[in-house]
Amino acid sequence: MTTHRREIILGVGGGIAAYKSCDLLRRLQDYGFNVTVVPTPSSLNFVGKATWEALSGREVTASVFESVDQVRHVSLAKLAEAIIIAPATADLIARIAQGRADDLLTNVILACTSPILIVPAMHPAMWSNPATIENVRILRSRGILIMEPEVGALTSGDSGKGRFPTTESIIETFQSSSLSGDDLRGKRVLVTAGGTREAIDPVRFIGNHSSGKQGLAIAEAALHRGAQVTLIAANVDIEIDSRIKVIRVESAHEMLSKLEKAFQDSDYLFMAAAVADARVSNRADGKIKKSNLSSIELIENPDLLQNLSSHKDKQIVIAFAAETQVSDNEGDAIEQARSKMLRKGADFIFLNDVSHGEIFGSDETRGWLITAHNAVEIGRTRKKNLANLLINNALQSTHQLS
Ligand code: CTP
Repeated sequence: MTTHRREIILGVGGGIAAYKSCDLLRRLQDYGFNVTVVPTPSSLNFVGKATWEALSGREVTASVFESVDQVRHVSLAKLAEAIIIAPATADLIARIAQGRADDLLTNVILACTSPILIVPAMHPAMWSNPATIENVRILRSRGILIMEPEVGALTSGDSGKGRFPTTESIIETFQSSSLSGDDLRGKRVLVTAGGTREAIDPVRFIGNHSSGKQGLAIAEAALHRGAQVTLIAANVDIEIDSRIKVIRVESAHEMLSKLEKAFQDSDYLFMAAAVADARVSNRADGKIKKSNLSSIELIENPDLLQNLSSHKDKQIVIAFAAETQVSDNEGDAIEQARSKMLRKGADFIFLNDVSHGEIFGSDETRGWLITAHNAVEIGRTRKKNLANLLINNALQSTHQLS
């Protein structure tokens, strides 16, 4: 069984923000990337080779004259699906703009045809210097993506535009631009979103707080990565891209019948919907008077995922679990989510802690990505980012099966 992880290069320039790239490297690994670090020789004054080797688990070289027999600049350039240069100093930006090749990183950049993302960090005066402005313009005109630095306090004590952006915003920019390629071209992605409603009478229902934002983020990310996307939306009140085929449903039973039809033709199922576990046993045709509302009899709904997984063929299935007070006993919560995943025949599961109304309706999320043998905590991030992370992992699962 081979594990397919996407290969990228993290180029590190000689600025103090180099230490922040250690976190960036870690998070990129969480997002399913294999990362080779190529520091400039001057950046090693800030973060040494040993740190990068320990964090990346790979050999690190900064000079073209090390491991010459391997022709590192060419082999690295061929290996990389994309290059992120973070932090990029004014000097490094100038050297790339001029097409210089005076260290391993600039050699790799010259030899590489994959997308490049540059993340600048420097003193505001250097960022706004006409020389840097011109270099940035040249690089942008060549199709290189350059993030804007953030505004705020700098190491020098000054403040202004020049700060290294947050890890989150770098990953978001990277995923939504350089990688929004074609890796799902020809694939059919089925997503459920929102919360089912189980009618009590024509006026009332049992429902939940799911907004559908996570499911929709997955559907949109899959669309941008080239997939043909079907979204089964239960009571979702958000505008949906017209290129997504939307099937609107109300109840769990309705969702199951639509899922059964669409599942066979799908390559991936992301079961992000919050499905009501029970429905009212004797739904009233007329509005129930409040004097008769003291008890409502419930019967269990079918488990949609379990039903589908029992006749799954090649499909990769992703489940979600929304729980409360996970942090009180994280280990147990992860184990329970893992058993849920296995019981429902899912390939992996994303566990959320929805305590204190933190996740429902929000554009952000956090939780744990759990597989049979692993659990990775994903810190606060945009649902859009998590969508791409889940797709990356789903793609890896496909490669593991083949
Ligand atoms: N799910 C499903 N059918 C149901 C209930 C849930 O397919 N009747 C799916 C959800 O879409 C989600 C996953 O199963 O992807 C986990 O949902 P959750 O409500 O946490 O699971 P339950 O089996 O209902 O477990 P619990 O007893 O913890 O509520």
